[in-house]
Amino acid sequence: MLRMSQKLLLRRAIELSDKLFDDEGDELCPGSAHTHPLCGNTDNYMQFPGVWYFQCGHITPKIVSGLIKGSKMLSVGSGEARLERLLTEGFGASKQNIVLSDMSLYAQARESGMKCYEFDMTKPWPKLEEMFDYIIFPESLGVALLKAEEQLSFRYFDILSRVEKQVLASDYSSQDIGFFMDVVGMDVSRVHTVCSILEQGMKYLNSGGTLIVKHGINAGQQKAYIMAKFHRDYPGITFRPDLPEDDLVLKL
Ligand SMILES: C[S@@+](CC[C@H](N)C(=O)[O-])C[C@H]1O[C@@H](n2cnc3c(N)ncnc32)[C@H](O)[C@@H]1O
Repeated sequence: MLRMSQKLLLRRAIELSDKLFDDEGDELCPGSAHTHPLCGNTDNYMQFPGVWYFQCGHITPKIVSGLIKGSKMLSVGSGEARLERLLTEGFGASKQNIVLSDMSLYAQARESGMKCYEFDMTKPWPKLEEMFDYIIFPESLGVALLKAEEQLSFRYFDILSRVEKQVLASDYSSQDIGFFMDVVGMDVSRVHTVCSILEQGMKYLNSGGTLIVKHGINAGQQKAYIMAKFHRDYPGITFRPDLPEDDLVLKL
């Protein structure tokens, strides 16, 4: 599995998903056929086929292989847990090693055989009883923050956009980084909410562990703020450089 290419892994994920979920519809078009959960929930959150996360490259051969060998994962905002059920019932990761959580747990999660927590990620988290190698926010962080305002600062545009580009390219050498963080931190309150959610997760991340956000960072400026702050506060932290601005993958 570890040596498998992302393309082959995706193909395998589609095969397994077809066997497991006969109602999945078009696997590569998220939510197209399933905008309404079938479990009695009335929130109408879009539910994503597990293969979506393979297609986007967030679930890699290394992660699947790690989970099969006993690495532990926490999913925050797991919804119907399609990804997590694909990993366990399809790929054979142990149900002991994947923990689900949601603001309001879906029936599919409760009945999945995986351990579940119920909490609002934007509030203080309950004490979790274990540490994780992977923490994933699968299409959930952006949803939790749908109402958050102040998405972008439009002041000092030249400086902010220059520093943003440098930090997104993992260059933290600019003397203006402090200024960038001051202005964005003042103007874009959303970044503090995102950082505080991710930091609550990072308390439960093993050294060398990976945190994955699929959707919810919202703008390059916000992403650069988060990267600059975590680069300052967590020595040795690294970020995956090849992702859209809306996504973030970091390794402690
Ligand atoms: C778009 S759905 C994605 C569900 C699932 N992860 C998937 O990939 O299909 C968003 C999920 O985030 C959860 N959610 C929304 N706000 C939340 C919050 N404040 N704390 C925890 N979960 C939240 C919703 O209950 C829902 O399950």
